[in-house]
Amino acid sequence: MAAPHSPRTDDWWREAVIYQVYPRSFADGDGDGTGDLAGVRARLPHLAQLGVDAVWFTPWYASPLVDGGYDVSDYRTIDPAFGTLAEAEKLIAEAAELGIRVIVDIVPNHVSDQHPWFRAALAAGPGSPERELFHFRTGRGENGELPPNDWPSQFSGPTWTRVPDGEWYLHLFTPQQPDLNWAHPAVRREHEEILRFWFERGVAGVRIDSAALLVKDPALADFEEGVDPHPYIDQDELHDVYRSWRSIADEYGAVFVGEVWLPDAERFARYLRPDELHTAFNFNFLACPWEPDRLRRAIDDTLAEHAPVGAPATWVLCNHDVTRTVTRYGRADTSFDFAKKTFGTPTDLALGTRRARAAALLTLALPGSVYLYQGEELGLPEADVPRASIQDPMHFRSGGTDPGRDGCRVPLPWEADAPWCGFGTGAGPWLPQPEGWGRYAVDRQTADPDSMLALYRAALRLRRCEPGLGDGPLTWLPAADGVLAFARAPGLVCVVNLSGRLAGLPPHEALLLASGPLDEAGRLPRDTAVWLRA
Ligand code: GLC
Repeated sequence: MAAPHSPRTDDWWREAVIYQVYPRSFADGDGDGTGDLAGVRARLPHLAQLGVDAVWFTPWYASPLVDGGYDVSDYRTIDPAFGTLAEAEKLIAEAAELGIRVIVDIVPNHVSDQHPWFRAALAAGPGSPERELFHFRTGRGENGELPPNDWPSQFSGPTWTRVPDGEWYLHLFTPQQPDLNWAHPAVRREHEEILRFWFERGVAGVRIDSAALLVKDPALADFEEGVDPHPYIDQDELHDVYRSWRSIADEYGAVFVGEVWLPDAERFARYLRPDELHTAFNFNFLACPWEPDRLRRAIDDTLAEHAPVGAPATWVLCNHDVTRTVTRYGRADTSFDFAKKTFGTPTDLALGTRRARAAALLTLALPGSVYLYQGEELGLPEADVPRASIQDPMHFRSGGTDPGRDGCRVPLPWEADAPWCGFGTGAGPWLPQPEGWGRYAVDRQTADPDSMLALYRAALRLRRCEPGLGDGPLTWLPAADGVLAFARAPGLVCVVNLSGRLAGLPPHEALLLASGPLDEAGRLPRDTAVWLRA
């Protein structure tokens, strides 16, 4: 089949605003309480009005949904809870008509335990070629009763599960997500075909889940703290995989964004060499506390690590795995760390919201592309999901101490006064919406010029027409302690006040946008940002 779109050679992705849709929680078109593609299609005008360039869909494929769809049983079908392949094709075409590109999510590290490959491997037994597609091993101990090694999990809990015939299989996440063996040529071939399958359907890009974890040290030796290389993070052979993926993407003019969590800047940048991934998420910026020196350092480090490989930076404040921005910024500790999540952390939402508004203008003024997670444009807080409603395996695998990630996955409010805040018409949403959720609804915020939504719409509108925003150089300007000020050529200045005092603004021709009111003397209050025409 020929590609429906001719190859795109422009580099829209170097400065795009990309909106992340978590389909389960975006909009419910068929009234069963779970968001779906019909819901997304009906709400596409919201995305067009917001002014985003592309939408990244977290996995929408057939899945038992043990890990919210990151447990894929068939990459070539859409989960019936979300719709059909024909609908996905319609959605891609309808989005394209609105000038919105589609990015899909590929999960190469593992499959669902319901995937035909894993079912066949279980049935075929020890020593079979079917088992070679995964990491099956005999256990240690006298009777093989101990796991083959001591690898720590990406979620808490064990990384090995024993099957009835006595062998163990590796899973860095839940037991329902067996890891694939990337040393096997069939695994590579299959994923290359999956990429082509989606590129042929007109998708403009692929987000690569857990991109630094695929390749395992073949010895599967025990983990030793501080010993390099890590047995399963950032193995050198990964770069071969991504080079061959890149040549496929280039045939279609499609792009990659890698989920690469690596603290080492040089190792991170290797994934962004010109013949590998186009971009990767900037998790160091996401995890950075709301502190002027730390933010400035995170920005400088980001730009410095991307420059040698010529890749654009990405800027991310939240996603479907982390605490929502307004909540994180309203806490005593404004950094993000999975290990530190607990129930009942005191939060000042008014403070967090003021900071999140300022952070929106900061982020959207930085050089590179920006990711927005659904609901970020509404200033949604992390919801307190009642324990009995929690579904995230991260919560259960922690023994119930980690609240898990459902608090950022609660279905969106669209209409303040409609049932389920307009998320859907039939059954209640799959995760309960908290009391007062309607206050954040799209219709209510549309009517309020001071709302978070109004700020995002205005910022994205300006970002499209201001030549100083998007890709290009950044120059820091002299500023008082605790104030970040930088210029983007030609003639755009962003100032963010993170000090406890009012800050004077540099000379300017016009105030283009402010995250909050200035004082009577035109000074910038704390936790407020502006865009100026210099
Ligand atoms: C990624 C996803 C996360 C998922 C995990 C396992 O980190 O973002 O949601 O649970 O991979 O696939």
